[in-house]
Amino acid sequence: MHMPDLKEARIRTNKEVLTKKASNLKSNKFKNKKYFLKTYGCQMNVHDSEEIKGILENLGFVNTNILEEADIVVLNTCAIRENAHDKMFGFLGRVKHLKKAKPELLIAIGGCMPEQESIANLLKEKYPFVDIVFGTHNINDLGKMILENNHKQEIEVYSIEGDIYEGMDYVRDSKYSAWVNIMYGCDKFCTYCIVPYTRGKQRSRKMEDILNEIKELKENNYQEITLLGQNVNAYGKDLNLNYDFATLLEETAKIGIARIRFVTSHPWDFTDKMLEVISKYPNIMPYIHLPLQSGSNNILRLMGRRYTKEEYLTLFNKIKAKIPNVSITTDIIVGFPNETEEDFEETMDVVNKCQFDSAFTFIYSPREGTPAALIKDNIPLEVKEKRLQILNKKINEYSLMNNQKYLNKTVKVLLIGESEKDQNKLYGYTETMKLVNVIAPKSDIGKIINVKITDAKSFSLDGEKVIFINN
Ligand code: 5AD
Ligand code: SF4
Repeated sequence: MHMPDLKEARIRTNKEVLTKKASNLKSNKFKNKKYFLKTYGCQMNVHDSEEIKGILENLGFVNTNILEEADIVVLNTCAIRENAHDKMFGFLGRVKHLKKAKPELLIAIGGCMPEQESIANLLKEKYPFVDIVFGTHNINDLGKMILENNHKQEIEVYSIEGDIYEGMDYVRDSKYSAWVNIMYGCDKFCTYCIVPYTRGKQRSRKMEDILNEIKELKENNYQEITLLGQNVNAYGKDLNLNYDFATLLEETAKIGIARIRFVTSHPWDFTDKMLEVISKYPNIMPYIHLPLQSGSNNILRLMGRRYTKEEYLTLFNKIKAKIPNVSITTDIIVGFPNETEEDFEETMDVVNKCQFDSAFTFIYSPREGTPAALIKDNIPLEVKEKRLQILNKKINEYSLMNNQKYLNKTVKVLLIGESEKDQNKLYGYTETMKLVNVIAPKSDIGKIINVKITDAKSFSLDGEKVIFINN
């Protein structure tokens, strides 16, 4: 048994990060047994789940979306805010009943939640029916843990960062658009954020390994890849080699895959060289997610964000000027401790100046073990909720306004699949990452087609396939 330790997780050692081959353990033990996998949280978790699916399918499991049918339930959890916590424990309540009726059911919990001491302890003391608890650093061990489990709870969660694994047997969600990890962990330590603890020290993959993965994806007909990291701009800084994110981006563009995206960018490491590369290559998409968090210099300082409102605006304007038609989205937190009305007004001022294409907005949620959790949370919930409401109203107005600019225009859309809401339509994304519901034949799924936009809403566009373009 290995329990996590938040103090240990904070330490950044000089321990060399090794690159290892993924174990890809294969067995027939669970042939045709069923797995139910539930994923919470960010794209990093979504992509980790593709690795988990690979591990499960290598053991013989097949996927089911029906919880009651499952022989193993795996939860890939998120720890970023309190509501993620509540969701996981709510779900666990349902699974407990299932296990009573079906004692041979295996239950495994991984992701960011068990990386927190208090959660791992809670699982140990109050949730003995959970068979396997694993962390973000040892997903590679999951196959072995499942094979060896005898329904006695096993907790293996490490606080110190893991090594980098290559050659995982991913089972990818899409045949057309793929996630590609370029780095793990984060060294930014924004004061509110749990990620540097749950995911550990920044570790970049070697450029050669990343490029090989992308070449293989291209050979397999992928149209789009998204380079993934907590802070992609800092890519390579831990490697002591002579390349950085701009180099990686340029080398990726040269491979010639149709669409390249990347998330997430921190304003701090955004270089001019990156902008040069983005504007030079048409296959690097004009879409940038640039978290603001707050528009107030006081709050930015308390958050440990290392930029001012003015610096953010300068960078924002530079990106807009350099990349024509770029869409920029953001993340904003309201109700951080000590946030005054004036501080909130500063955030609204940036929102009004930037008129973001869209934004993820959150109420601040103290995370145990982070520096911000030590500051007295002195903003009443009603005030936080009111601010969120005001903010969301503005964000939605600007989203709609930006989307309306697309009306009657013809844009390129990568079609991903059938629309869930309307079976006669397909859905896909513009180069600028706008969701579009399109009338087009199903045989177009996986292709980039021209679409004329016929309607614009706050969160999506409607359009129809264009065969000949006149404009
Ligand atoms: N409370 C609220 N929101 C948070 N985020 C990260 N940590 C917290 C927290 N403790 C938000 C940030 C980040 C996004 C992924 O989640 O805006 O960019
Ligand atoms: Fe992703 Fe952050 Fe949630 Fe971890 S805590 S799963 S990194 S969003």
